[in-house]
Amino acid sequence: MLGNFTYSNPTKLYFGEDAIDNLKTELANYGKNIMLVYGGGSIKKNGIYDNVIAILNECGKNVFEDGGVMPNPTVEKLYEGCRIAKENNIDLILAVGGGSVCDYSKAVSVSAYCKEDPWEKYYLRMEEADNKIIPVGCILTMVGTGSEMNGGAVITNHDTKLKIGHVFGENVFPKFSILNPVYTFTLLEYQMVAGFYDIFNHICEQYFSGTDDNTSDYIMEGLMKSLIHSSRIAVENPQNYEARSNIMWTAAWALNTFVAKGKSTDWMVHMLGQSVGAYTDATHGMTLAAVSLPYYRHIMPYGLPKFKRFAINVWNVNPEGKNDEETAAEGLSAMEKWMKEIGLVMNISDLGVTDDMIEGIADGTFIMDGGYKVLTHDEVVEILKESI
Ligand code: NZQ
Ligand code: ZN
Repeated sequence: MLGNFTYSNPTKLYFGEDAIDNLKTELANYGKNIMLVYGGGSIKKNGIYDNVIAILNECGKNVFEDGGVMPNPTVEKLYEGCRIAKENNIDLILAVGGGSVCDYSKAVSVSAYCKEDPWEKYYLRMEEADNKIIPVGCILTMVGTGSEMNGGAVITNHDTKLKIGHVFGENVFPKFSILNPVYTFTLLEYQMVAGFYDIFNHICEQYFSGTDDNTSDYIMEGLMKSLIHSSRIAVENPQNYEARSNIMWTAAWALNTFVAKGKSTDWMVHMLGQSVGAYTDATHGMTLAAVSLPYYRHIMPYGLPKFKRFAINVWNVNPEGKNDEETAAEGLSAMEKWMKEIGLVMNISDLGVTDDMIEGIADGTFIMDGGYKVLTHDEVVEILKESI
């Protein structure tokens, strides 16, 4: 049965090849001081930086740059961003990049005027923002996280080896996001396919939970099928606009809170992947790929009907003459074949994990209780060992 819920998503999306034309209109809604946030320089190489700067200048804005946001943004970088935002009385944070740049911008938006240490308040104590929040706008260049249309902001603390995501409320969602699939054409294949799996796993995290018959699961099966189909085309031809645009749209729906409404969710693969990320700084989507199959095979017996449904509805497994376990297992084998086909990393050792890290990674893995099995510490260790 669908639980009770409220649904609203305040992010205004501009989608398509001409989406950037709307930036000028959006900028008119904010004051003069713009903090331009970006990553390690890809936007300077592919020309997006020049386009954005030209529009900001045309609109007469004062631009304060904050570049160098690293994949998996750190708490030290967050403190630096807070200083820049506060010192320059920023009216809008304009994030131009992938999930790391968007997440970081949201983290700065709630932290700049926070009177306490934002890491402690938002990431350790998981409190909500009760101070001034600077509005954020996004221009997305990497597809996967859904950060363009949600309140998530993941920050890594290397000193304590913790990578933690705070899912903020609507007041922290980007006010607008500009999504041009062509902007993602310059991504390296490794990043592109890592993003594909991030999307896929966001859907899995919300699908593999609950036993009820709800609309969200049907929607998610459609999203997964579209993604599998388009990912194969994109890997063959990364410049295929139809495939890349469908994937960009799927990514937004996969994690803009819509499909999670009224149902329980899991998120255990993300907890495992984030802890692997805290130890290795590996690409987010690859950390998920590397732990997924050992995890799903481990919990399959506890959620057998859903895994059977997944096999039949998403992977077109024919259940005739097979028992439920066989059908479900065939679904996971089909998923494994697809993952290998598109070039995902299938083992955490390939991401830099060594045996001596396993206990620490398990300790840093938050245990969720919405999936088909609440894992014990020993089970986490077992899954990580199987992933190595
Ligand atoms: O830094 P630059 O030079 O821009 O290069 C980036 C980076 O190296 C590059 N890139 C991005 N757009 C490009 C490009 N290279 C060429 N052409 C382009 N158009 O790609 C690399 C990865 O970028 P990054 O932003 O780190 O990737 P992603 O979008 O996967 O973001 C990962 C972060 O998002 C968090 C992850 O944990 C991780 O910290 N997540 C955020 C979520 C959310 N907000 O809801 C949910 C996710 O589950 C995830 O946890
Ligand atoms: Zn993710």
